[in-house]
Amino acid sequence: MKIINIVGARPNFMKMAPIIEAMNGYPEEIDHLLVHTGQHYDEKMSKAFFEDLGMPKPDIDLGVGSGSHAEQTARIMVAFEKVCLEHKPDLVIVVGDVNSTMACTITAKKLGIKVGHVEAGLRSRDMEMPEEINRLCTDVLCDYLFTTDYFADRNLRAEGVAEDKIVFVGNVMIDTLLKHRRMAAGLELLPRLGLEKGGYATLTMHRPSNVDDRDTLEEILRALKEISRQLPIVFPIHPRTRKMAESFGLDRYFNEGDQVEGIWLTEPLGYLDFMHLNMNARMVLTDSGGLQEETTVLGIPCITMRHNTERPITSEVGTNVIVGNSGQKILAAAAAVLEGKGEAGTIPEKWDGKAAQRIVAWLVAHHR
Ligand code: UD1
Repeated sequence: MKIINIVGARPNFMKMAPIIEAMNGYPEEIDHLLVHTGQHYDEKMSKAFFEDLGMPKPDIDLGVGSGSHAEQTARIMVAFEKVCLEHKPDLVIVVGDVNSTMACTITAKKLGIKVGHVEAGLRSRDMEMPEEINRLCTDVLCDYLFTTDYFADRNLRAEGVAEDKIVFVGNVMIDTLLKHRRMAAGLELLPRLGLEKGGYATLTMHRPSNVDDRDTLEEILRALKEISRQLPIVFPIHPRTRKMAESFGLDRYFNEGDQVEGIWLTEPLGYLDFMHLNMNARMVLTDSGGLQEETTVLGIPCITMRHNTERPITSEVGTNVIVGNSGQKILAAAAAVLEGKGEAGTIPEKWDGKAAQRIVAWLVAHHR
């Protein structure tokens, strides 16, 4: 079978890496191509991950770049349609919930090509999140829905999805984490930054709901600044957040000096460096999706600065607390962790490093 695998944005790379590796185990059965849409294009948002994860270079780069949602989605669709017509795949595999995921799904389905979605069934029920729209459109069209947990299975069933399309396989992002955990642990980043294990927090923040409105962003930054008086915060800043903070004049909250203190900025980090920082942090503050899962497996308290999560398993069994974006709630959650009252957690079922193998074995056995 001829498969086209799709990546586009940073969180896609660590999900696709183990799938490609598992497909390489079936050279007789599977012929696969990797397409990068180019949604993320900065060296630090894209190429660095291919290197860290030992991923093959994309066979095809659509080079679409940034734009409004409509522009970006449309450009991906136009470019990917040509790829499908030329290469005639039997199956397209998409991961996650970014614009590239949805755009390639729609394109392939309209050409009568089957599509499998890895990380299907996640729902935040928040239609202001572009990712929720991407998830809904993708899942309703896909032929195979590979899920990470029972919440996702339940969501799909409640939407009337046929039982035989839903395949509970576990979490491919955790495949990648477990594979690289030892390597990340062995890095020596902390002494170089003058940090000690448990002596700092890490932060990621890039959601439009947190960074696109000046007052919201300032309220969050004020709370983070307060936390950073007790615990310096390492913030590998997303290009979107940097642009917004600078345009609002809020970059005065940041410290870009040589010393890690206050809210200390770095450029976006590579996969291994960032895992190293997270696994040694006292807590992680974030509005990301994947980091909620990674901290659960690493056993590090995670404070999610969002009103909802599409990954409730991480707060049900893991180390995650969902606090919204009010300064007061963020401060209270951080204080609880500092007092040793952070969430302890367990690891969800099948987050065991074998999800990609299950997906590919299932495809070889079932895809016709
Ligand atoms: C996208 C995903 C989001 C994911 C995030 C991870 C969608 C709708 N959103 O958000 O789910 O959590 O990636 O990073 O697909 N930019 C650069 N260089 C880059 C990429 C982006 O400077 O390599 C800047 C551009 O100004 C761009 C902005 O970031 O306009 C937003 O990029 P975009 O791909 O639209 O969405 P993200 O915010 O990165």
